[in-house]
Amino acid sequence: MHDTRGGCFVTERHILFVNLRRIQREGLESLLAARRLGYRVILLGRSIPEFAKPLVHEFRQVDTYDRAASIAAARELHAEYNLVGVANFTEVDVQLVAAIAADLGLPGMSETAALRARNKYVMKDALRHLDGVLPRFAKVSDLAELRVAVEEVGLPAVVKPTGASGSKGIFELRAPEDLDAAMERLSQIARPDFDPVFKQFGAEFIVEEFLEGDELSVEGFVSGGEVHIVTITDKVTSVPFHLELEHKVPSALPADARAEVSATTKDIVGALEFDNCAFHLEAKWGDRGLRFIEIAGRPAGDYIGSHLVPLATGVNYFENVVRVAAGEELRLEHDRQLNAGLRFVLAERAGRFEGAEGLEGIGEDPGFDHVFHEVPAGTEVSLPPENFGQQRVVAVIARHVTREGLEALLGRVTTEASARVSPVDGRSG
Ligand SMILES: Nc1ncnc2c1ncn2[C@@H]1O[C@H](COP(=O)(O)OP(=O)(O)O)[C@@H](O)[C@H]1O
Ligand SMILES: [Mg+2]
Repeated sequence: MHDTRGGCFVTERHILFVNLRRIQREGLESLLAARRLGYRVILLGRSIPEFAKPLVHEFRQVDTYDRAASIAAARELHAEYNLVGVANFTEVDVQLVAAIAADLGLPGMSETAALRARNKYVMKDALRHLDGVLPRFAKVSDLAELRVAVEEVGLPAVVKPTGASGSKGIFELRAPEDLDAAMERLSQIARPDFDPVFKQFGAEFIVEEFLEGDELSVEGFVSGGEVHIVTITDKVTSVPFHLELEHKVPSALPADARAEVSATTKDIVGALEFDNCAFHLEAKWGDRGLRFIEIAGRPAGDYIGSHLVPLATGVNYFENVVRVAAGEELRLEHDRQLNAGLRFVLAERAGRFEGAEGLEGIGEDPGFDHVFHEVPAGTEVSLPPENFGQQRVVAVIARHVTREGLEALLGRVTTEASARVSPVDGRSG
């Protein structure tokens, strides 16, 4: 597209986004990142949220679970706009984005790599050669297969869907009698009517040795085959359903541990053949070094990519997601050394969420950057394993010069803030 301004010829550059992240504030930051870099965003997706309308140049509605229809729409948009790239911010669209990039000749990763990114069994299967990094694991589809697999994998173990995200359907197996209950629940959860993510790999599960250690994630990019590590995040997850509760950037691991985490991350990303994407790798650090949980071919959610990494390092993570998609050089220089973190406030029981309490002091302290309300007051909330998306009602982001200072701020969230939940008729609260 060309237009003339002040007599000179200006070429507008257009980038394709496939859906937006579900958390609106993250979606907003992704659109703003593209705008700051001078791109117009063309959005291909199932729907466009109201807030995004002024920031999107054209929205093309398509069922993005329909691959052929989505690729056909992307071709039409490319013919019209001469797209510079297709950016990926979401988990479910990793394979579609790779397919569109390949089809249009834009920077992306191979479809094999994209499948490895999306399917936890295929991912681990491609990494069997890495010594001492993987848990023992097996693919299972029913209780009989799980029983056989657990004989090899041992207990304690974790069984989970191969293609989900957001801790939907993570079941710890600690004793033989846990197997029945876990598979019973998983057969109800791993269905498209429970969550559309299950349109992709359905009722397919992976059982893994339970890994001990401190949980962390690695945030980085691959561009033209070169792996760049931006930072490492320390995280805390809930017991027993492993919702992510707290994130701190950067990790407090000592330098030699961080070096090993970085080196193993590069081995994993290289072996999976990820390319031209952001990645978010999750692992545990324990007595036996790094033990791998999973890796995603997109930026971290839970405000890690959108807020925590920029606050702690000065690296604008989402701008680099756009750059990597467009084949532009990355800008990964750290301009500060701060500590940024996030703590969720949880609904402690099911019922009607009436609102959050105890946020006043937090709002007044300059160490806290953001308070995000994740669930509207008045919502009837259920807890895992009935619902995996309603327990984390408020997210609070803080930053401090020191790690101790950050921990003190996040500790205040736990002691001062709480969710008021009242019983709903006919149900115990
Ligand atoms: N093998 C394992 N050992 C110990 N904990 C695990 C294991 N697999 C998963 N978990 C826990 O469950 C969480 C979610 O699992 P993950 O595979 O990352 O699924 P999701 O795609 O939903 O994030 C992890 O962050 C971790 O806390
Ligand atoms: Mg995970």
